[in-house]
Amino acid sequence: MVEHKGTIVVTGRGGTGKSSFTTLLSRYLGEKGVEPLLLVDSDPDESLAEMIGIDLEKQKKRSIADVLSEILEERKMARMSGMTPTDKIEPFLFQESLYEGRNFFDFIGVGTKWIAGCYCLPDRSLGQIMDMWGTNYEYVIVDSPAGVEHLNRRITKKVKDVFNILDPSKKSFDNAARSYKIMKDVDIEFDNYYIVGGYRFPKSLEKQAEEQPFTYLGKIEEDPEIMEYNLEGKSLLDLPETSPAYQSVKKILEKAGY
Ligand SMILES: Nc1ncnc2c1ncn2[C@@H]1O[C@H](COP(=O)(O)OP(=O)(O)OP(=O)(O)O)[C@@H](O)[C@H]1O
Ligand SMILES: [Mg+2]
Repeated sequence: MVEHKGTIVVTGRGGTGKSSFTTLLSRYLGEKGVEPLLLVDSDPDESLAEMIGIDLEKQKKRSIADVLSEILEERKMARMSGMTPTDKIEPFLFQESLYEGRNFFDFIGVGTKWIAGCYCLPDRSLGQIMDMWGTNYEYVIVDSPAGVEHLNRRITKKVKDVFNILDPSKKSFDNAARSYKIMKDVDIEFDNYYIVGGYRFPKSLEKQAEEQPFTYLGKIEEDPEIMEYNLEGKSLLDLPETSPAYQSVKKILEKAGY
């Protein structure tokens, strides 16, 4: 039996390095033998799979939104009377969306918008399925799209740690405050809300970060190799152990108790 320890959410403004951080966080936990992990890409951009070295097309896996749209459009569910919507949907998603890695993690992509119309059913079902599946993993790690809008979908309702990755702008500090408030307002529980300097965050702003009402854990070092790997579509799991970015992420996570 796996002891489920919780959900980790990585959030922040666009391009601050959220997906790279998510990948290095997963790598760090994997190297420590903390497994299995479920990685959830909730960004419609769907770039996390590549960063972590999965070719979803080759694996014949589609995003949750794609599978759900198909189910709802084809009215497949109508033929399965007597079950809750979630029970009907779950086996399809398990089969067609969940990538089961041989490595230390599984992966799922939430994908882009649902079909036109009401989001309530798919969002609620996805939330229930996440709760159900989550208990099979030591940690569920969610990479978020930029901004705060996604929080309203409440796909995760109970979170252990939130990491907000900052860029050097007032907007970034504002984003941290806003997403904190929205999470409180929409009743997403969390134990810790951390802020982390992204790779473009200068040392000179660290004092300001420390004055925020959130725990500042340090900054992610800039690393040209990350850019190179991302450009070439190479997995960040293969970055050299000595990568300054990876080393800085490790320190940040140690501070957070990982
Ligand atoms: N530590 C780093 N050093 C140098 N470049 C980095 C670092 N981390 C990320 N980058 C670069 O910054 C860009 C954005 O990174 P990433 O995709 O991780 O950010 P993001 O916050 O997930 O973006 P989005 O908001 O689009 O999802 C990429 O080109 C990436 O290569
Ligand atoms: Mg991203």
